[in-house]
Amino acid sequence: MLHRILNVHYLPRSVSEQDLAESVVIVIDLLRATTTICCALAAGASEVVPFRTIEETLAAAETVGRENVVLGGERGGRRIQGFDLGNSPSEYTPEAIRGRPIYITTTNGTQALYHARMARRVLAGAIINLSAMAASVRGEERIDVLCAGTDGHETREDILAAGAIATRMVEFFGASWSMTEAACAAVKDWKSLQRAAAESGRSLSEELALEFRDTLGGRNLVEVGLDADLVDCAQIDRLEVVPELDVDNWRFTPR
Ligand code: MLT
Repeated sequence: MLHRILNVHYLPRSVSEQDLAESVVIVIDLLRATTTICCALAAGASEVVPFRTIEETLAAAETVGRENVVLGGERGGRRIQGFDLGNSPSEYTPEAIRGRPIYITTTNGTQALYHARMARRVLAGAIINLSAMAASVRGEERIDVLCAGTDGHETREDILAAGAIATRMVEFFGASWSMTEAACAAVKDWKSLQRAAAESGRSLSEELALEFRDTLGGRNLVEVGLDADLVDCAQIDRLEVVPELDVDNWRFTPR
């Protein structure tokens, strides 16, 4: 039987960039960068280009002509001054995007993508594309799920999403994965959420959105009045899109 390895890293600094070089890395910033990237591509963005800083984003927009791109992202959870969109998935509609490229910069998510840039493949994972994401790594021998965290701290919404992806991979491809301790813990956490949903009679998406209110990233969003994003980011399998970063050209394109 093929021996496959599944790692979960609760923070980018838990693994070096070099250690990810041979791997397929699924980057998760569930609330909200990687969820928003999925929504932007599903809504017809021609590409999504992640930037680490506001300055880099603005400079790149000037190069191609400001009116030709949509600037999106957040600092402190809020839309950046002079940008077109914030980081709420619901803002990324076909009407707002009109087929244009999105240049996006966020506090943690776009930094985590950068940390994965040496990997063989870099994917953006979320709950809204859970099954599509898990199916897309069929045949791969080593997967590293890289959680973005929040301001350098582990955050439970990313860990739950990592557990959900690992669980789906086992459901799809069987138990041929050798999981690290961190991966096993993430799976356990996800399974306990599934049990809580079954006991409460709530759907798993409802239970997850409720749980987000107690996570670091979720609390930050509630503080700035973005509670609705918790519900949007918890919609299991709403999309089939699997964003894959073309590292050489540094952009996600639809596939
Ligand atoms: C991040 O990159 O830190 C997040 O996406 C934060 C947010 O959406 O507010």
